[in-house]
Amino acid sequence: MPSNVAEPYRIKMVEPLVMHTRDERQQAIEKAGHNTFLLKSKMCYIDLLTDSGTSAMSDRQWSAMMVGDEAYAGAVSFDRLEAAVQNSYGLPFVVPTHQGRGAEHLISLILIRPGMHVPGNMYFTTTRAHQELAGGTFHDVIIDEAHDPSAQHPFKGNVDIDEFTALIDEVGAENIAYINVALTVNLAGGQPVSMANIEAVRRVCDEHHIIMWSDATRLAENAWFIQQREDGYRDTSCADIVREMLSHFDGLTMSGKKDCLVNIGGFLAMRDESIFTKARELVVLYEGMPTYGGLAGRDLEAMAVGLVEATDDAYLTHRIGQVTYLGERLQEAGVPVVQPIGGHAVFLDALRFLPHLSQDDLPAQSLAAELFVASGVRSMERGIVSAGRDAEGNNRHPKLELVRLTIPRRVYTDRHMDVVADAVIDLHRNAERIRGLEFVYEPPTLRFFSSRFQPKA
Ligand code: F0G
Repeated sequence: MPSNVAEPYRIKMVEPLVMHTRDERQQAIEKAGHNTFLLKSKMCYIDLLTDSGTSAMSDRQWSAMMVGDEAYAGAVSFDRLEAAVQNSYGLPFVVPTHQGRGAEHLISLILIRPGMHVPGNMYFTTTRAHQELAGGTFHDVIIDEAHDPSAQHPFKGNVDIDEFTALIDEVGAENIAYINVALTVNLAGGQPVSMANIEAVRRVCDEHHIIMWSDATRLAENAWFIQQREDGYRDTSCADIVREMLSHFDGLTMSGKKDCLVNIGGFLAMRDESIFTKARELVVLYEGMPTYGGLAGRDLEAMAVGLVEATDDAYLTHRIGQVTYLGERLQEAGVPVVQPIGGHAVFLDALRFLPHLSQDDLPAQSLAAELFVASGVRSMERGIVSAGRDAEGNNRHPKLELVRLTIPRRVYTDRHMDVVADAVIDLHRNAERIRGLEFVYEPPTLRFFSSRFQPKA
């Protein structure tokens, strides 16, 4: 089953890959406490840990970097980023930050007062952590299908409008800081939100005077799904769909490390000048001057070019086609994956992959470690470990217990996807041999990054 579109670029520079032996990988995973985040990247043959900051930049981005203005204040590189955001996203005010969580930190400080509530279409780790640090309580208002790995729905990232309005009735609109709509939804499997749903959320926000914010980290991929799946958008370019989606929002946080095709960078963009003023005040304290926000001038230049390239139809068709190709190969071989296949990653359903383990055996963590030992493919846990503990200190038990095979943008070929598929299929055949894990070290926040584990007896 060949992927039907070839890469819409040719390769000008290469980075050699090295395949280590199984014994070397076994030693490496033990040294890393069975946490794929703690592996040395040079030990990984194909690195699918994340699509964040791992993109290959284009020749146009590299040349833009050469004209970066490194002035401390008033740099022209900021003007170019601002113009690109205004033009491509239709939002007038822009504040750069070092990456997405820098933007999340600032918007949480600006909009959340202690005791307030923040609904969203499923949590994301850093986003919720910043909402909670600012004294807010996150509420998941995604549709139920998103929590079921095998439920079919073209827009599994949609907000459940009834749940959103029920929350408003329960806590009062004045206690809702804002609603955060992620485009696409990472932890649901890279699932998109429809334009109709965005419009429906807007109507509720208008009625109750609630701020509608977006985590726009993967908005170009969301636009491609709207083009392919929603009535009336087949002939609309993804660039135009991006502008239409954002026309409904008051502002956004962006991790440029994904859909701006850069290795570092992020920003806040918004319509409201008073939010903009507060963001400019805070960014100086935490990130840097409002014209660089913790980035070099050259980073702003690369992001300004990348955010436009990411909405190109040919690029997106290959990008998501490659993810779909990997997902379909696994599905055909009977490997349990989250359906439909999302935009940036294929997610293995660890509870069905390892039916002999319970969620407290940390099956996704264990599967990610075993896949690395078997094949050199690095993936990431997105399950009970990532979900962390609640305010009472108990482990959260998310409905999804997943291993994410995240595809970097413009980095690997479809042949690499075959190597990954073969490795996962082989592991699935021998899955009953995989044991559970237990914590030996757990940090207080964002524990998935640095926890250490050992095999359960
Ligand atoms: N929002 C979403 C939906 C994300 O996926 C991420 C990062 C962030 C915000 C934070 O952005 O990393 O630039 O600070 N996701 C990465 C991942 C880490 O691997 O999924 P950041």
